[in-house]
Amino acid sequence: IADIKGGPDQGLGRVGQTLSVMGWVRTLRAQSNVTFIEVNDGSCLSNMQCVMGLDAEGYHQVESGLITTGASIWVQGTVVESQGSKQKVELKVTKIVAVGKSDPSYPIQKKRVSREFLRTKAHLRPRTNTFGAVARVRNALAYATHKFFQENGFVWISSPIITTSDCEGAGEQFCVTTLIPSPQEAAGSHVDAIPKTQDGLIDWSQDFFGKPAFLTVSGQLNAETYATALSDVYTFGPTFRAENSNTSRHLAEFWMIEPELAFADLNDDMACATAYLQYVVKHILENCKEDMDFFNTWIEKGIIQRLSDVAGKDFVQLTYTDAIELLLRANKKFEFPVKWGCDLQSEHERYITEEAFGGCPVILRDYPKDIKAFYMRQNDDGKTVAAMDMLVPRVGELIGGSQREERLGYLENRLDDLKLSRDDFWWYLDLRRYGSVPHAGFGLGFERLVQFATGIENIRDAIPFPRAPGSAEF
Ligand code: 4AD
Ligand code: MG
Repeated sequence: IADIKGGPDQGLGRVGQTLSVMGWVRTLRAQSNVTFIEVNDGSCLSNMQCVMGLDAEGYHQVESGLITTGASIWVQGTVVESQGSKQKVELKVTKIVAVGKSDPSYPIQKKRVSREFLRTKAHLRPRTNTFGAVARVRNALAYATHKFFQENGFVWISSPIITTSDCEGAGEQFCVTTLIPSPQEAAGSHVDAIPKTQDGLIDWSQDFFGKPAFLTVSGQLNAETYATALSDVYTFGPTFRAENSNTSRHLAEFWMIEPELAFADLNDDMACATAYLQYVVKHILENCKEDMDFFNTWIEKGIIQRLSDVAGKDFVQLTYTDAIELLLRANKKFEFPVKWGCDLQSEHERYITEEAFGGCPVILRDYPKDIKAFYMRQNDDGKTVAAMDMLVPRVGELIGGSQREERLGYLENRLDDLKLSRDDFWWYLDLRRYGSVPHAGFGLGFERLVQFATGIENIRDAIPFPRAPGSAEF
């Protein structure tokens, strides 16, 4: 359908051609001698209006109720100019085949259904306008991500999903254990099949990995090893956080893009983050017009203007210390009081981007070292690290990054201070032993980018199958 209707003439150039369309029936309206079927194949937001007279081959399938909302069909016909105002062309059907009929219990009927309801129907929600559009824009953002980094000479690295290190040190990891004996022998009880000591604890010595293994929270440490060999690299893959927070911006499983730049400092890192965000935003504005118009009308009024501004403007930069000053001076009562050294809550982040700087992305830098991860490079003041977070309206923190501590001695001391074992990080320390270089990188939560780019309020609607506390169905 996108092929037919996607051109600037919206299909007029194809008038007179015989074409076939395969898709799912969105609506069906039967009048006495003509039936209108709106069919959608997901290639674009638009449906193809199919107009069928009583003489169309296969018409009896409509009469006998085989073709209803939700059914899959194959139609063949001639492209004609449409009399209706909603589309330029339609298909005058010569032949129709019911490929798969749809049971009357089909839950996605024409009436508007809530996104909460659709979360319980994650297997069918891609057939709605909203979720079809989100899926296409998400795809375009992924494509633009690879395009941006490839055009700028970055090498894509696959970082492992199973790991023994906790990059962020926040203790938010899911544990991976193996089932011994095999699940079949354990007669269906997976819990029984986890190797245990006599005290009933997991016996890691018997485990496949020989020691506790986890799902990765970030591919950064692995990316650093490749950045200190191939120069600029990036990862793009799933990451996991066992944070028990039920918010509209947290998932237990989310995709992260993590560039790592060699011979680079925090300024280079911020410049890269800005150029990247502007590039992908421009890409969807240019390539996803129909879907973006839909979001602009139905999901967030004004989103196109907001994104155009982002693509064209410089972002605000502010130190953490100045941001705290700003929040202290704000004529506003926050639920979480602010003082130097505190972690910023989403109410603070939103105040900064939405109120203080009128919807412009804001990059905060130089955070207190005590609220940031062990690998960040210490600043000369001894109190802060070369960290940066990019905050955007509606979403809050979209990007977290830093310059990495490349000085062996500093890094060892930091590990000691945090009671982390130097032995566990032997290979990471080696990177500082053999040809260390200043380097920096960041992580962008892909679903938060999808939220930012589509206006969709809840992160669970920005990924096909959300994983969050209490939800791993489908
Ligand atoms: O700020 P974070 O924790 O930074 C890191 O993981 C670094 N290792 C990145 C790096 O420097 N390579 O996470 C980075 C981003 C956040 O800014 C946020 O957009 C996203 O990942 N994120 C989440 N997105 C959805 N659900 C969650 N639970 C998220 N946690 C972080
Ligand atoms: Mg962060």
